[in-house]
Amino acid sequence: MKNFPDDFIWGTATSAYQIEGASREDGRGDSIWDRFCHTHGNIHNQDTGDRACEHYYRLEEDLNILEDLGVNAYRFSVSWPRIQPVGRGHVNGRGIDFYQRLVDGLLSRNITPTATLYHWDLPVALQLEGGWNSRNTASYFAEYADEVFRSLGDRVHSWITINEPWVASFMGHWTGQHAPGLQNFQIALNVAHHLLLAHGKAVEVFRSGNHKGDIGITCDMSSYYPVSESIEDREAALRLDEHKVKWFTHPVLKGQYPEGLLSWYSEKGYEPPVQDGDMELISGKVDFLGINYYSSFDIKKGENQPLEADFVPTGRDKTAMGWEIRPEGLYDLLISLQKQFPETPFLITENGAACNDEVDEDGRVRDNERIDYLKSHFEMALKAIEDGVPLKGYFIWSLMDNFEWAYGYEKRFGIIHVDFSNLKRTWKDSAAWCYQVFESGHTDVSLDFDSFFDEEDEDD
Ligand code: FCB
Repeated sequence: MKNFPDDFIWGTATSAYQIEGASREDGRGDSIWDRFCHTHGNIHNQDTGDRACEHYYRLEEDLNILEDLGVNAYRFSVSWPRIQPVGRGHVNGRGIDFYQRLVDGLLSRNITPTATLYHWDLPVALQLEGGWNSRNTASYFAEYADEVFRSLGDRVHSWITINEPWVASFMGHWTGQHAPGLQNFQIALNVAHHLLLAHGKAVEVFRSGNHKGDIGITCDMSSYYPVSESIEDREAALRLDEHKVKWFTHPVLKGQYPEGLLSWYSEKGYEPPVQDGDMELISGKVDFLGINYYSSFDIKKGENQPLEADFVPTGRDKTAMGWEIRPEGLYDLLISLQKQFPETPFLITENGAACNDEVDEDGRVRDNERIDYLKSHFEMALKAIEDGVPLKGYFIWSLMDNFEWAYGYEKRFGIIHVDFSNLKRTWKDSAAWCYQVFESGHTDVSLDFDSFFDEEDEDD
């Protein structure tokens, strides 16, 4: 039987706005997501993160769940407006206290904290000054990062600067489905560049502060396959790969934007706002690349602007998000990344599935589809490791059902079920299955769920 390495990092992932709630508590300021959610029509069912899972109040309970799950790491994000309510200047001690309690609680349970500095919750006061479209925001981010490193850096030794810069820039400023809801391609390119700059500046602050530990960035990635051998389709697939993956990974790991797409954009009148010295700053050494993987896509030449590339459904099974289930795309992605960046270790910082979970009469959530999804992706990760890919860890999205951005509470990604009427947490079958995988280090676990949950009940 094939096993993951003994020192493999197994964790679950969450983000502040999606789980914390307590949005007006203890001096927290508003973020662009508070504003976006409270604007009619942006979010399914007018849901907001005001209450979310109330993780802020249920910290001990959630820490105990993590301990019982047997993870050895936990990825969370720090809310910028909890630390700096208006994005700069005044630091809110009560915000720092919360993350210190979280980190201490993890360490006392032998769980390694992995902290993300930016998971999309920009303080609204900075948005009013131009948000990420303004270069200054990258400098404010570095000041915020410095505060967080100073407060938590003695205990947190694994840092992610920015989560999914593609989503933050292009869904926030081009498609408009995410906060702040703009629809302008050039602004999205500016934002992407300033997010990369913010990353580079934070890494610089981290290194110059001599903090212990590792720092990297997390990007959302997929494999893009041309539907045919035609030059047009092959170029369209490459364009999407450059737009989504290489546009962010190449500046960070090679110090340059991908040439092909740079000239494609330029012909259409778009340019990233690069200034002297930016690319050197952005490409300061990172210790790992974080990969968020959910699906992969077949691509053909299209008419849409400015990319002229269309997604082609393949008929594979889909998750409740409508995303095709393509575990082999994860393997192909890992192999391709290793070829491009042979020096860099990788972490899967998110992977998981939304399913139409139901609580059965006996209280169980029999989420077999999620187990199948995770199993097939774990197996591809293991295959990549065997083929020499330096994959060091795997964080499941997500620890618990939470506020899924524009989809509100409708889409459930958790391995722990949350009843949003009373916020009760319940283990799904997938949580029990993951517990066995973490413990055994392999995916061939045969689990008698009935007796597993009976024993749990007795323990309670
Ligand atoms: C990623 C986000 C994460 C979550 C998952 C489903 O894009 O980083 O917050 O919403 O998708």
